[in-house]
Amino acid sequence: MNFQTEKLGGHMAAAVSGVDLNHLPDAATQQALIDVLHDNLVLCIRDQHLKPPAFLDAMSRFGTPMLRKQLASTPECAEVNIISSEDRDVLGDGKKIVNGANWHTDDSFMREPCSLTMLYGVMVPSTGGDTQFTNMYAAYDDLPAGTRARIDPLKAIHKYSSSRKLSRISTRPADEMAAMPEATHPLVRTHPETRRGSLYLNPNRMEQIVGLDRTESNHLLDELIAHATQPKYQYRHVWRRGDIVIWDNRCTMHKANADYPEGERRLMHRVIVAGTEPF
Ligand code: OGA
Ligand code: MN
Repeated sequence: MNFQTEKLGGHMAAAVSGVDLNHLPDAATQQALIDVLHDNLVLCIRDQHLKPPAFLDAMSRFGTPMLRKQLASTPECAEVNIISSEDRDVLGDGKKIVNGANWHTDDSFMREPCSLTMLYGVMVPSTGGDTQFTNMYAAYDDLPAGTRARIDPLKAIHKYSSSRKLSRISTRPADEMAAMPEATHPLVRTHPETRRGSLYLNPNRMEQIVGLDRTESNHLLDELIAHATQPKYQYRHVWRRGDIVIWDNRCTMHKANADYPEGERRLMHRVIVAGTEPF
């Protein structure tokens, strides 16, 4: 199978066209898609028309899909979640919930966070609703040598309901919240495939850097977050209907924008695939 590749951002993100994932790619094509993802951190596959089972099948070629019961699922496939402009805090105040409205990487409060997230634009608004990404390899590489030496050995505690969180999170049953894991991860991780080092931050879920007092930890986290989210490290994806955007949570952060016109719908199908413990 042949496909065309187009660079999207200056330093990250690429789009491929000429692929119909209703027909699973052969092994060589699949590897070529994975290579584009590893080289560009964010991979957009254009012009897809996929029912949930076909979407799930195609995504399972990139990794093992995981269940995420905090989000609604499609009736056809429990592993295909729904991110929608209709999302409401149904167990809480009933108000609109925007999942991922602040910079984050997915599921860092888990011991083994998902490696990739796949979002499929089933319905996209006429304007707005972009997803922003930031390149955490570049953010790490650009740090002064002294800062890199300081943070290389450090670890941070990540938890779901972090005291530093910025997003309103949807209300979940008390037993589920009590069972929410937390995890300690390195501030700088090595990508298991590319072997490149990247900053591993989750502004929304990091609680504290191990071994630093609260003030010192907050100061360093604020400084690293401000550095990593500078516009020069960002790519902003403007959605087209039928895009599948696959991002690598091990070397990027991302952020949703709920700035589209009131009354317009945005409906995404979402799959995450298993990752390993960060090192
Ligand atoms: C996600 C997420 C961003 C968006 O699905 O993990 O953060 O733009 N989505 O919907
Ligand atoms: Mn997210």
